[in-house]
Amino acid sequence: MESRELGAGGPRVGVVGMGTWQTLERADAGVIEAGLDAGIRVFDSSPMYGEAERLLGEALGARRPEAYVATKLWTPGDGTAQATAALGWYGGYVDLYQVHNLVNTRAHLDLLERLRGEGQVRSIGATHYSAGAFGELADVMRSGRIDAIQVPYNPRQREVEREILPLAQELGLGVLVMRPLGEGALVRREPAGVVEALRDFGITTWAQALIKWVLSDPRCTCAIPATSRVERAAENAAAGSPPWFGPQECDLVARSVA
Ligand SMILES: NC(=O)c1ccc[n+]([C@@H]2O[C@H](COP(=O)([O-])OP(=O)(O)OC[C@H]3O[C@@H](n4cnc5c(N)ncnc54)[C@H](OP(=O)(O)O)[C@@H]3O)[C@@H](O)[C@H]2O)c1
Repeated sequence: MESRELGAGGPRVGVVGMGTWQTLERADAGVIEAGLDAGIRVFDSSPMYGEAERLLGEALGARRPEAYVATKLWTPGDGTAQATAALGWYGGYVDLYQVHNLVNTRAHLDLLERLRGEGQVRSIGATHYSAGAFGELADVMRSGRIDAIQVPYNPRQREVEREILPLAQELGLGVLVMRPLGEGALVRREPAGVVEALRDFGITTWAQALIKWVLSDPRCTCAIPATSRVERAAENAAAGSPPWFGPQECDLVARSVA
């Protein structure tokens, strides 16, 4: 598999997806449809996110084939019930099925490999939000059992640069980036003059500058900012196309956050 492919049949270049943690239950009606209309394909969810998995499935409806669904198993016990529910919501298959926060990893990988053999799972991944677990994540990456990882990355949280991104590149694993906006904290204060300085890169808002900062690293396949607002789906999606930032623009964004 080439570097930057999220998983079998998944996106191969830097693209913007959509997360669903703490947003879908309070979202504007039509936020998923607005994302699809804006060209968003990757939608990330988890049983940890309240009703989000079900709401995502309902919102996709007949447009399910347009989407690349990345969801997760998240239970210390048997994952069969979670998988059965998700397969029901997503038309009988999940594009990328991830082990959430490395909970019960070995047992969940066994189940996901079986489901992949039956054609119900296309690719397998693992996530963790904390740098303290990156050693364990690296072991899972080296096991050869996963196609993609999901990790936090933004100009204020850069621990993945040390070991995880180089290893993903070496192994050819896809990289899904959670928290590209620092859970919203990074967008609250817009630094003066930066958006204007990045206009030639198609940037019109500070959120777009942060998302493009992530995707300008060729090791990152897909950033998944979450939003509850229809107009922000298109705003965020627009950051997922070239021209990508070079070192100077990346430095400018990083310095503006520091
Ligand atoms: N362990 C794991 O596997 C794990 C952990 C964390 C996250 N994740 C995944 O990663 C996704 C993204 O991370 P996240 O949701 O924590 O953080 P995030 O995407 O960095 O930030 C989301 C916040 O940014 C705001 N926002 C989005 N677009 C905006 C824009 N254009 N302008 C201004 N504000 C904007 C949203 O508020 P509005 O709704 O008001 O737009 C929301 O509060 C999650 O939803 C989840 O799918 C996975």
